[in-house]
Amino acid sequence: MKKITKMTAVVTSVLFFTAMTVIPVSAQSSQKTSGDKKPLPSDVMNIAQKSCAKCHINGAMGGLKFTEWDSYTVQKQTAKSKAICNAVSGKIMPPKRFLDNNPGAALTEADIKTICDWSASLQPAKK
Ligand code: HEC
Repeated sequence: MKKITKMTAVVTSVLFFTAMTVIPVSAQSSQKTSGDKKPLPSDVMNIAQKSCAKCHINGAMGGLKFTEWDSYTVQKQTAKSKAICNAVSGKIMPPKRFLDNNPGAALTEADIKTICDWSASLQPAKK
């Protein structure tokens, strides 16, 4: 009886330590596939600093704050990046009234492409 208990303890601890080492490895490798959480690229951050800072870095209007990007969940990054591409390509953001007073914040076509290419890279692959 005693021997069986000891065996069970050994098997349990082997399983436990195996799980401890295996789980972090699989979590790491899944980060590389598309549709997963990624840090904000510096070219996107530079555009945000030029054109969105007043409201989305110094503020968090519409629930968007670029300096907190890396703490967003995958789901939030996916949805927000899509909303960002839509907002800039539809010329909704930066707001027209803001641009009237801050013409230097206007986005170039290259800026919009950078943002939308980045956004597309965060969307889950279509099957
Ligand atoms: C002058 C302030 C101002 C600037 C500059 C500005 N925004 Fe906004 N943004 C807002 C406000 C206010 C809202 C919320 C609008 C609402 O809720 O109707 C908003 C909302 C948004 C949303 C919607 C959030 C969501 O999850 O649906 C996105 C995306 C966005 N802004 C992106 C940008 C980007 C990208 C830039 C820079 C290129 C930018 N904004 C510049 C004020 C600003």
